[in-house]
Amino acid sequence: MRPPSKPRALLLPAYAKINLGLEVLGARQDGYHELRTLFQTIELHDDVVVRPRARGLAVRCDHPDVPRDEGNLALRAALELQRYAGVGKGAEIAITKRIPVGGGLGGGSSDAAAVLMGLDHLWGVGLGPAGLQPLARRLGADVPFFLVGGTALGLARGDEVYPLRRQVRGHTLIVDLGRPVSTAAVFARVDRSLTPRENSHTIFRFVSSDLEGLRAFPILSNELERAALEEAPDLADRVGRIRGILNRGGAALALLSGSGSSFFGLFEDGRRAQGAQSALVAAGFIVLRARTVSLDQYRRAWSRSLRARRARGVGNQSRSRHHGDHRRQGHPGRGRKAEGLRIDRV
Ligand code: C5P
Repeated sequence: MRPPSKPRALLLPAYAKINLGLEVLGARQDGYHELRTLFQTIELHDDVVVRPRARGLAVRCDHPDVPRDEGNLALRAALELQRYAGVGKGAEIAITKRIPVGGGLGGGSSDAAAVLMGLDHLWGVGLGPAGLQPLARRLGADVPFFLVGGTALGLARGDEVYPLRRQVRGHTLIVDLGRPVSTAAVFARVDRSLTPRENSHTIFRFVSSDLEGLRAFPILSNELERAALEEAPDLADRVGRIRGILNRGGAALALLSGSGSSFFGLFEDGRRAQGAQSALVAAGFIVLRARTVSLDQYRRAWSRSLRARRARGVGNQSRSRHHGDHRRQGHPGRGRKAEGLRIDRV
C-alpha cells in the first residue's frame, strides 16, 4: 500500500469580521485597552494559500498596501510558529486580498490565523486552534478570535474569546470607504475622553438571554466611532449619509466596524439588504454584501480546507477577482437558502 501522500499546498479562506458592538472600559498597564466586544465573521474573505518548502519564508500578495516583509502579520505568524515549534522547514504564503485593508474588518489578523492553522497542519506541528491561541495573542489582539469564528464575545484586549451559544445569522452590507484608519491612533484619541469603568452591562445583556432576536440589537453601539471620526474627520459626512440609508433601509444595526473605516449594516431580510445596497450604490458608495458565518459554518470551512489533501489549482489563486465575487465561491453559506436575522443556539 502506498503511504498517504502529503498535501502540497492548502487553500484557506480568511473571513472578515465585524464588531456587532464594542465598549472600551479603560486603559491597561500594557498600553492596550480593556474591551467588551461582540465579534462576528462574515462571508467576505481573502484566500490564503500556504505551500511548504525546504526552508525560508516568503509572502506574495498583489495588493499594493500589503507589506511583503515582517510588517506582514501573516509572515510573522509563520515565523512565530517556526520558532515556537522548532520547525526547520519553510513555506510560501500567497494572499489574494478581497477584505479592504485598514478597514476595521480584521483582514490582516484573519490571514495570520489562516497561516497558523495551515502551517500547523502542513508542518505536522499539531497544536490545533486551542494550542495556537498563545501564539495568536502575541501577533495581535484580533488574531485569537479568528481561530474561533462565528459570533463570539471578546474580553480583555479583545483576545480572550468566548464563542456564544447564540449565533447571529443575517445579511450584512459592508461599505468600503477606501480610507485606512490607524487603530492605534483611534485608541490614543479614546483616552482623551475616556471615563474608566469597572465593567459594562450592554454587551453582557446582549449575551445573556434577557434580550432576544431583533430587540437585542438596538442596545449595541461602537464606542470607537467618535474617536475614529475625530481621527478621520473627512469621513464624518459620508458616515452620516450611510447610516441614514441603512436605517431607512431597515437595518437592525448600522455601525462602524472596529476602529473603521468600514461601515456595516446588518439585516434580517436579504431583499431589504439588496434594496439598501442599491440605494448606497446610487449614492456613489462601494458596497459589498455578505452573509454572516456562524461558528459551525466557520469550523466546517476550516476542516474542509485542512482535509483537502491536494488543493487543486491553488497556484492560480493570485488571479484577483472582483470584490463581491466571494458570493460565488466555496464559502460555507453556499447553497444555503436565504435566511433572516436569527439567533441560533449551537
Ligand atoms: O493588537 P493590534 O496590533 O491589532 O492592535 C493595534 C493597536 O490598537 C495597538 O497597538 C493598540 O494601540 C490598540 N489597541 C488597544 N487596545 C486593544 C486593542 C488594540 O489599545 N484592546
